[in-house]
Amino acid sequence: MTNDQRKPVMAGNWKMNINHLESIAYMNKMAFSLIDADYARTEVVIFPPFTDIRSVQTVVDADHLSITYGAQDISAHDSGAYTGEISGSMLKKLHTKYALIGHSERRAYHNETDESVNAKVKAAIKHDLIPMIAVGETLDIRQGGNAVEHTLNQVQGALKDVRSNYVSELVIAYEPVWAIGTGEVATPQDAQDMSIAIRAKVAKLYSQDVADKVRILYGGSVKAGNIKAIMEQPDVDGALIGGAALDPDEFLRIIRWPDQP
Ligand code: 13P
Repeated sequence: MTNDQRKPVMAGNWKMNINHLESIAYMNKMAFSLIDADYARTEVVIFPPFTDIRSVQTVVDADHLSITYGAQDISAHDSGAYTGEISGSMLKKLHTKYALIGHSERRAYHNETDESVNAKVKAAIKHDLIPMIAVGETLDIRQGGNAVEHTLNQVQGALKDVRSNYVSELVIAYEPVWAIGTGEVATPQDAQDMSIAIRAKVAKLYSQDVADKVRILYGGSVKAGNIKAIMEQPDVDGALIGGAALDPDEFLRIIRWPDQP
């Protein structure tokens, strides 16, 4: 089972789906479905589009929900002439807890590199947001036998010059690109093996104590039907869920992973 030091996280990444009105209906459904026992066992995180964050905040605050939320990206800059960007201080003002950084879709479609990911990690920390750093290999890289090396390089690049007290709090999401939105899920053993490798890398860069605290999630075609086997892996501390999190009922089943077949 999951290590006692690390509370499991189930994070729903809505990507560019669900508008600000729909987000209220979604959050209301979560509000009346989730009970204290769910929150006690699992941290529930939502990554809505920027335009929904205020709506999500309003429901969370009004109903005193224990759901946390994050932004799908963050600017590396503090403020100024950066048209279209959203700063860490703007996100913090909306009580945003996390910033998802380096998602493979941003690396692929917005030319994000390990350097820009690192700059965003530092911006998040500067504004008191917890980075959730996404890493993972493409199919070509996996077939070439370099999945571990590639993923660990991304981890090292993202954490360059980041101090250990911040690293122990953050979350790393291993999302093999070939498993995202394809229905092709990595085996639970693949997820475990990469989580072990990531944790060992963090131990080498920092310390075993820091590595034992970092939460490592798996992402890529997670659904209610496969979450239990993934969560049975001792180094997998939760999941980052795309498509299946767009349906609140399915996301609720994932949040209640011990009850699934
Ligand atoms: P899917 O769950 O749709 O495969 O997406 C995973 C993902 O990219 C979450 O960030």
